[in-house]
Amino acid sequence: MTAHRVSWRTAWETALYGDDGFFRTSAPVDHFRTSAHVGTFAEAVAELARQVGACTVVDLGSGRGELLVALRPLLGQDVELIGVEVADRPADLPDDIAWTTELPARVDGLLVANEWLDNLPCTVVERADDGTVREVLVDPATGDETLGDVHDSAWLRRWWPLSTPGERAEDGGPRDAAWADAVARVDGVAIAIDYGHLRGDRPPFGTVRSYAGGREVDVRLDGSRDVTADVAVDAVADAVGGRLVRQRDALAELGVDGGRPPIQLAHDDPAAYVRALSRAGEAAELTARGGLGDFWWVVTDTRMEGSAP
Ligand SMILES: C[S@@+](CC[C@H](N)C(=O)[O-])C[C@H]1O[C@@H](n2cnc3c(N)ncnc32)[C@H](O)[C@@H]1O
Repeated sequence: MTAHRVSWRTAWETALYGDDGFFRTSAPVDHFRTSAHVGTFAEAVAELARQVGACTVVDLGSGRGELLVALRPLLGQDVELIGVEVADRPADLPDDIAWTTELPARVDGLLVANEWLDNLPCTVVERADDGTVREVLVDPATGDETLGDVHDSAWLRRWWPLSTPGERAEDGGPRDAAWADAVARVDGVAIAIDYGHLRGDRPPFGTVRSYAGGREVDVRLDGSRDVTADVAVDAVADAVGGRLVRQRDALAELGVDGGRPPIQLAHDDPAAYVRALSRAGEAAELTARGGLGDFWWVVTDTRMEGSAP
């Protein structure tokens, strides 16, 4: 049988978003836990929406609507909530949450994209023995790879230059462009939240990984699992005039506090104590070093002069 090799980006796109793609057939929440699944995260997003004076909150890549469902009771009915998602509208989503496949032309308020950019497929490249940077081709059925044509990219030269044969990178140009397109629609604040790296510490062999069933698994491009790569967050921030801040610091600015409640509360109001303890546990999870706290927020306030992409 002859190998059928295509560009990594094409194979990745089909694996996640083709007719039987992972995100069309699987709920992210069934395979991995994100900040959107932690209630205290919604409280911080609601606080930000209030600070922005948002008429609308748009959740781009909204999974099964977990963040929006948690936001609904925290924000007045005058705040419109919109999920933008390639997967179908969840059957049990409350009627007062809108659901669409396309970003609205204008967003008056707050745009949030939690763990969206890492799932935007990239061209995977490798530096060849002859010193050229070449596109990696892959047979989606077997994972067999070969090097294809030279991939000449201004983005790679600037943001992720490869110096040694065998080194790999993911070309983040399309991600920067996708986020810039989203931010350009916003009158207010846009936040992309993801795991990522900076120019000084790019991993030498790229970062493509797979997750399924709650753990990291072998990468496969057959739609059975998530396929993700860390985000070059400094490039994204540069594309949109954004501020880069670690999640633990962003949440602290929004009042998320991992401190334990005073023990006296356990005597005075046991139920309140248990609730406060649970919130402290969630805050600790969202701000943990080596975990969600290390995530980057790319924050763009489009109402600030000079911040427009
Ligand atoms: C890792 S999940 C994150 C889900 C949710 N934001 C969370 O934090 O739990 C990424 C989601 O983005 C969605 N997605 C990816 N590209 C998209 C696009 N262009 N438009 C809408 N949704 C998209 C996927 O279907 C998937 O549900």
